Amino acid sequence: MTRKTKPDTPAPSSRRLTVSAFAKMKRAGQKITMLTAYDFTMARLLDQAGVDMLLVGDSLAMVVQGHDNTLPVTLDEMIYHAEMVGRAAQRAFVVVDLPFPINHQGVHQTVMAAGRILKETRCQAVKLEGGADQADVIAALVTAGIPVVAHVGLRPQAVHAMGGYKIQRDLDQLITDAQAAQDAGAFAVVVECVPAEMGKALTGKLSIPTIGIGAGPDCDGQVLVCNDMLGLSCDYVPSFVKAYADLGSAIETAAKTWCDEVRESEFPDADHSF
Ligand code: KIV
Repeated sequence: MTRKTKPDTPAPSSRRLTVSAFAKMKRAGQKITMLTAYDFTMARLLDQAGVDMLLVGDSLAMVVQGHDNTLPVTLDEMIYHAEMVGRAAQRAFVVVDLPFPINHQGVHQTVMAAGRILKETRCQAVKLEGGADQADVIAALVTAGIPVVAHVGLRPQAVHAMGGYKIQRDLDQLITDAQAAQDAGAFAVVVECVPAEMGKALTGKLSIPTIGIGAGPDCDGQVLVCNDMLGLSCDYVPSFVKAYADLGSAIETAAKTWCDEVRESEFPDADHSF
């Protein structure tokens, strides 16, 4: 499917985006796009497609490693994947998730972990789950020169405490958390799984951009797990996801055809032999 670009939507420039670009985009009412990426090839393709931010999400525990929640992934594993994405991205600003429970181990541990991410991966920022409870940690990271994205609403790392992946309906809590993250110096906030009206209300209150996932159309930007968006997920896909391709079926069909051709001695043929 081809989409027409709105006439007033500027074509993405090839220069690396920065935190100030996102503040400017919010002020100009230009939507911010963010997708997850976990390896070089996918990151390069998404970067070339003009995605503004790539997120090396701890969702890699589920999408890449096959766990049933995000808790098991380690800092070393996040760094391993972030290095690949950092090598691929040329224009996109790359954000890396702090894995559970690093940002609950105190300010010093969190700054050391985030410092490793920036030193070892060429990525530009970290994301952490939490708001008011994480204000001291966010402030320390920002003081150390590390840009921070906060993550409020549904916090997948707290899935057991939250009683599952449920829609979050407490507007006061949402605003308190996001406002505290903004006051502590976060440059953007991911808002997950809240009614569209709450996403809109929060976006109107904050001066930093909101990036929604299951938070309605009025956030300043949108983020999705790239495998979900590409129809490449093996298991459950949340109802707020729209698949823009069916790569899972395309891969299965291609692999099946290749197996058939090998078994029938049709591949390799003369064109694919020396
Ligand atoms: O880990 C992740 O992929 C995320 C997105 C769902 C925002 O945090």
